[in-house]
Amino acid sequence: MNDKITSSYKASKNIYDSILTQSSLFGKLYIKTFWHGVDDNRIAAELLRYIPDRFSGRLLDVPVGTGVFTCEKYKRMTKADIICLDYSEDMLEQAKARFAKNGIDNVTFLRGDVGALPFEDCAFDTVLSMNGFHAFPDKDKAFSEITRVLRPGGRLAACFYIRGRSAVTDALVKNVLARKGWFTPPFDTSGELMKRLERAYEVTNWHIRGSMVYFRAVKKQEKR
Ligand SMILES: C[S@@+](CC[C@H](N)C(=O)[O-])C[C@H]1O[C@@H](n2cnc3c(N)ncnc32)[C@H](O)[C@@H]1O
Repeated sequence: MNDKITSSYKASKNIYDSILTQSSLFGKLYIKTFWHGVDDNRIAAELLRYIPDRFSGRLLDVPVGTGVFTCEKYKRMTKADIICLDYSEDMLEQAKARFAKNGIDNVTFLRGDVGALPFEDCAFDTVLSMNGFHAFPDKDKAFSEITRVLRPGGRLAACFYIRGRSAVTDALVKNVLARKGWFTPPFDTSGELMKRLERAYEVTNWHIRGSMVYFRAVKKQEKR
């Protein structure tokens, strides 16, 4: 399964940014036709607002991808200790090159699996997960690992695809994106996701645009 992720993100590494940011005509048409024009640039910008520029704790960004949406933000977050993890070496290499070119020197890069994070419990103040959960092969493990490494009171900021909002988008995801390996089923509906989150988090911000959800949630204190 994970080899499929490696090969699919290797194959798309040169077109990923232009499609997601709609800087190519194909990207614009793709987003308009299959995602009802829901703009990833805007969702990313709104999600990143949940993390203050002056943030000075430890932040885990999983998956970092190519860093196309986070680079400008990280340029401003000079006091943060940022760890960026991704399963795809090809995506990581692009993020490394992009951040280096932009003079960002407070980021550590790691190749790894979100389902087996190489960190101690409660090691992070914030976890950012942008466009990751629809790609992660084991959602249960991804959620439990992210929750484990986040300290109580720490924040999870995330955005990703949810099933059941649009027949057109659901058909694209099922018949193309999942077959190609960019997305991996099963996918939560908004109700399933909320139930999953509420077990460990207090959801403080919650927005759905088209088939995309973005939210901020605070990890509950452990019960004694
Ligand atoms: C759609 S991209 C999102 C990247 C970036 N956050 C963004 O918004 O542009 C999904 C990423 O998830 C990564 N990925 C998939 N499965 C993973 C796993 N098990 N552990 C870590 N990263 C994974 C892929 O390699 C890919 O870079």
